[in-house]
Amino acid sequence: MQTEREHFEPLRAGVVGLGWAGEQHLKNYLRMPNVEVVALAGLEGERLRDLGVRYGVSGLHERWEDLVARDDLDIVSVAVPNHLHAPVSIAALDGGRHVLCEKPLARTGAEAERIVDSARKAGRVLEIAFTQRERGDVQALKRHVEEGNLGRIYHAKATWMRRDGIPGMGSWFTSKEMAGGGPLIDLGVHMIDMALYLMDEPEAESVSCATYAELGPQGRGSRGSDDDGTKTIVGDAYEVEDLATAFIRLSGGATLNLEAGWAAYRDSSDDFGVTLYGTDGGAEMKVRNYGTSDTVRIYTDVAGVPAVVAPEIRPREGHLGVVRRFVETIRSGDWKGHDGGDGLRRARIIDACYASALENREVSLRKMADGRR
Ligand SMILES: NC(=O)c1ccc[n+]([C@@H]2O[C@H](COP(=O)([O-])OP(=O)(O)OC[C@H]3O[C@@H](n4cnc5c(N)ncnc54)[C@H](O)[C@@H]3O)[C@@H](O)[C@H]2O)c1
Repeated sequence: MQTEREHFEPLRAGVVGLGWAGEQHLKNYLRMPNVEVVALAGLEGERLRDLGVRYGVSGLHERWEDLVARDDLDIVSVAVPNHLHAPVSIAALDGGRHVLCEKPLARTGAEAERIVDSARKAGRVLEIAFTQRERGDVQALKRHVEEGNLGRIYHAKATWMRRDGIPGMGSWFTSKEMAGGGPLIDLGVHMIDMALYLMDEPEAESVSCATYAELGPQGRGSRGSDDDGTKTIVGDAYEVEDLATAFIRLSGGATLNLEAGWAAYRDSSDDFGVTLYGTDGGAEMKVRNYGTSDTVRIYTDVAGVPAVVAPEIRPREGHLGVVRRFVETIRSGDWKGHDGGDGLRRARIIDACYASALENREVSLRKMADGRR
């Protein structure tokens, strides 16, 4: 139930995590009317103090437990390594806070389920920072699809591939225990999200996936722009995949081809995109090096002949859109369905992908669900 505070008074946020992601949460809360950031937590003492001064935040904590234990927070943002998403989110939700958790919701479906259960029990909002979905081009495609222009989408492709983009070789990103996986869980989760969002949330029925670790274990593939050299080194083993490919069967007979790679011998760029094939039209988004202009092509018929439309779309900022929607949802008091269910569905698909890759066969999500009962 919404309180008077949540409706009228400033919402008070605490942000856990001081990396790039945490700073995006912090600065975008400060762009929202009537939202204050009152606390920050993270292990890098100097950066903690620096962010505190720069953004005017006085409650500075090294331990996330101390931030979550505060009694003056309405919101907790979780922007820590993946293995901490569940403990921090669950503690915050159990304490009655609304939670904005970075993607992926968790390392596994089981962990994601525990977080979603806590949100449902607490009756609080849980959103996942699926930031790429907030891009102007994805939002334009979503409107185009919702207007019915593509008819029934029966096949989609979603891909995020880098040449040299292993983030933080030897950091939590390349530890299976801390990250839960490699580019599939890091980049693939964005692309699964984007495709399912654009296709109006079909259920995933089965998955056939293969993963590879070819460049990472040789110490190659980590000179990309995503590796800013600031990550703490936790080990020297490369424990996750560096490329994953999957074929996903969806409800209603549709299919999705997914490809996610941090490192591969290919064009020296960082590229993602989605292609939608529908019964009445098609669409394609191709993003090179995070560019925002001229990314979309719409395929249609004009006067009975094939035509290509290149819409002029205004860019939008991912985290700003995520934070705005999250705050607006809390303010609205209409929290039904805002319980992280989409993050859980993505986590289960990724579970099935890793199981399929391990077992070298197609895996049914229904059978995996039956196994949990
Ligand atoms: N949505 C996006 O576009 C996007 C982009 C980058 C990262 N992310 C996600 O954000 C999360 C963080 O990624 P990052 O690149 O900012 O990581 P990072 O390694 O740069 O920062 C992680 C932060 O967590 C803090 N931390 C770690 N252990 C802690 C503990 N025990 N107590 C308190 N703080 C602790 C660290 O001190 C650090 O400040 C990940 O889940 C990642 O997938 C999302």
